[in-house]
Amino acid sequence: RKKVTTHVLSEMKMRGEKIAMLTAYDYSLAKIVDSAGVDVILVGDSASNVMAGWETTLPITLDQMIYHGASVVRAVQRSLVVVDMPFGTYQGNSKEALTSAIRIMKETAADAVKLEGGKEILESVHRILCAGIPVMGHLGLTPQSIHKFGTYTVRAKQEEEAKKLIEDAHLLEEAGCFGIVLEKIPASLAGQVANQVKIPVIGIGAGNQVDGQVLVLHDMLGINQEFSPRFLRRYHNLFAEIKGAVGNYIDDVKTVDFPNEREQY
Ligand code: KIV
Ligand code: NA
Repeated sequence: RKKVTTHVLSEMKMRGEKIAMLTAYDYSLAKIVDSAGVDVILVGDSASNVMAGWETTLPITLDQMIYHGASVVRAVQRSLVVVDMPFGTYQGNSKEALTSAIRIMKETAADAVKLEGGKEILESVHRILCAGIPVMGHLGLTPQSIHKFGTYTVRAKQEEEAKKLIEDAHLLEEAGCFGIVLEKIPASLAGQVANQVKIPVIGIGAGNQVDGQVLVLHDMLGINQEFSPRFLRRYHNLFAEIKGAVGNYIDDVKTVDFPNEREQY
């Protein structure tokens, strides 16, 4: 199976073939997701919530993202692997952004990095791209700015914010980003962006008029039970399944059903 590249993604958009993207943070699940044939694996800073139990994505560190990224890359044969740049590693200045991106690329062997924001971080995006590192943008509900937003509600419903989002998408495309994630914005606005830029636009809570979809793996598998926004489709209830299996194991241990004759030496 041929490795997915940023070039392949651009061809998919031109053909009108939708791009399927999911998160993964560890070797074992990344192996399953890659073997299922997902096009892009995102080592999201949602690992801060999902893996570490933090309230927001802000606390996760560059070292921790590199640990997750390297674990995923070791499992993947086909998918394009994108690693999120964590909060505080690229907003301050573009030199620090480049240093952070280079660390991610060298220490994880991932294919690309993703940064949140438009105009505000454009200098960082430029500098990283100049080093030959593919960059994915992320606009709309950018969780690293949650303290500015104050709420996880839909973004860009008002004209002013929608206009800025469209401008930012164009800026990211002109800078040379290979794709953009749009999170939790009106479907019509996301569709407009996807029509106006040539690079693939991947949506999460952004409707179906875009070039692909991304979900957090643990959310779509139902491992996470607390999180159930409208945009999330659950493909399994792994919380219940795993809880059931663990319950059965506990029973077997207590009743000395496990281990049996064949399960010992
Ligand atoms: O960190 C993440 O999982 C993400 C996706 C939700 C796009 O950035
Ligand atoms: Na993220």
